[in-house]
Amino acid sequence: MSANIAEMENRREAAHMGGGQKRIDAQHAKGKLTARERLDVLLDEDSFEEVDMYVEHDCVDFGMAEQKIPGDGVVCGSGTINGRLVYVYSQDFTVFGGSLSKRHAEKICKTMETAMRNGAPVIGLNDSGGARIQEGVASLGGYADVFQRNVLASGVVPQISLIMGPCAGGAVYSPAMTDFIFMVKDSSYMFVTGPDVVKTVTNEVVTQEELGGAITHTTKTSVADLAFENDIETLLATRDFFDFLPLSNREEVPERPTDDPFDREEMSLDTLIPDNANQPYDMHEVLAKVLDEGDFFEIQPAHAGNILCGFGRIEGRTVGVIANQPMVLAGVLDINASKKAARFVRFCDAFDIPILTFVDVPGFLPGTAQEHNGIIKHGAKLLFAYAEATVPKITVITRKAYGGAYDVMASKHLRGDLNLAWPTAEIAVMGAKGAVEIIFRGKSTEEIAEKTREYEDRFANPFVAAQRGYIDNVIYPHSTRRRIALGLRKLRGKHLENPWKKHDNIPL
Ligand code: COA
Repeated sequence: MSANIAEMENRREAAHMGGGQKRIDAQHAKGKLTARERLDVLLDEDSFEEVDMYVEHDCVDFGMAEQKIPGDGVVCGSGTINGRLVYVYSQDFTVFGGSLSKRHAEKICKTMETAMRNGAPVIGLNDSGGARIQEGVASLGGYADVFQRNVLASGVVPQISLIMGPCAGGAVYSPAMTDFIFMVKDSSYMFVTGPDVVKTVTNEVVTQEELGGAITHTTKTSVADLAFENDIETLLATRDFFDFLPLSNREEVPERPTDDPFDREEMSLDTLIPDNANQPYDMHEVLAKVLDEGDFFEIQPAHAGNILCGFGRIEGRTVGVIANQPMVLAGVLDINASKKAARFVRFCDAFDIPILTFVDVPGFLPGTAQEHNGIIKHGAKLLFAYAEATVPKITVITRKAYGGAYDVMASKHLRGDLNLAWPTAEIAVMGAKGAVEIIFRGKSTEEIAEKTREYEDRFANPFVAAQRGYIDNVIYPHSTRRRIALGLRKLRGKHLENPWKKHDNIPL
């Protein structure tokens, strides 16, 4: 073997060892995989091609000139997930705590730029002590360079962040601008300022986990979409998730073979809706019976459970699903549900993923808490997102579609392409009792009861809307899958453009 090749091998070996065996052992002792081990699980076997393995920092302060580790704390490159191209960067906590130097940032930027040029998603595996303290402002500049690319890549290629260790200070804002964030329970956290600073400034005592752990961010804040038990579970779920996504805004949704017949009938759907309008049922059941193989990848299941968002497939092709969930707060729209669904609708629209909406909504949630926290502005987000979306939109009203919420939930009026209703649908300004109590205020209980029945007979059905063409068809619930599949086939050629503008001004 020539000396040159031996030199290359030595350097490769040094890069692979990162911060050394002791620090690798410490990483394992925390229940965490190393940066490279994570990529081994995430990517198809032997598909990873690393770039910039020999990059080193250029810092000379605080003894850094003598401490150089090839790769400088981040492993970058490309690989495949089930055969489809993806760009990755994986921060190596064994090298200066995965902290971000100027060169480390340049590697991430290069990865993102290549991904954008070649039209493939970026997955960032975050495990970092933040800005490289020895470098000071150079590393802050590095963060801003990454942020800028996150913004430019937004809507061009899907961006996914896996939080697998510390992510604090400015570092949080790169994941925050990506499309989806998955966190590992117990070993990861995200906050702008940590518990010590919180204690000093506000006198609050809080643990890292309470302040910014996976449970906090997937239940309270909705900063993160999903929480997993450990590194392996997170990485395997990311592989499944990746299969739903188009590679870029120039590519079609992925298609994979399915044995599930497009016209599969589900007779149980005909009796799913309870006779009593106030009795809930589980919207998950509808989704499981309509989507290919019952497969629904839910996003933010632990936050705003009154609306379900996630991906499924019809005839092997990805669809984005939004559905009111009668099991939680009767499926009402509130601030959190509106924000959650609006962002999801915008992701689907940006990447040409058809949107399926299942509606059972009694309206917007009343109360001072909602009004004073801006339900007007936040509810408008969902309305805006649906109205601007130009992707195929198919809507199925299963039961209630009341008031303004009827308009919002991908109604015909917001350019719904195919608006279907089950015979159990009630499309009205509000529920019969509430409506009659307003129109016939002061009347006797008997009269109210009689008028309520009259109102129900008149309006608690889908036909008044169908007579006006607001509903394209009233269908057997058991035929829902076939109707949707046929609708989506026809919509493959859909072309709709919004008027030219620099960008819109969605209420933020
Ligand atoms: N810059 C440079 N080196 C860093 C670093 C940073 N921001 N964060 C961690 N490191 C180094 C540590 O010096 C240590 O080096 P060593 O292995 O040579 O001893 C190594 O990374 C591991 O850090 P350690 O503190 O031992 O790990 P930990 O798991 O106990 O704690 C943190 C992790 C992130 C909580 C802790 O390292 C920390 O508070 N880092 C600073 C965070 C910060 O203020 N960042 C700057 C603002 S964004």
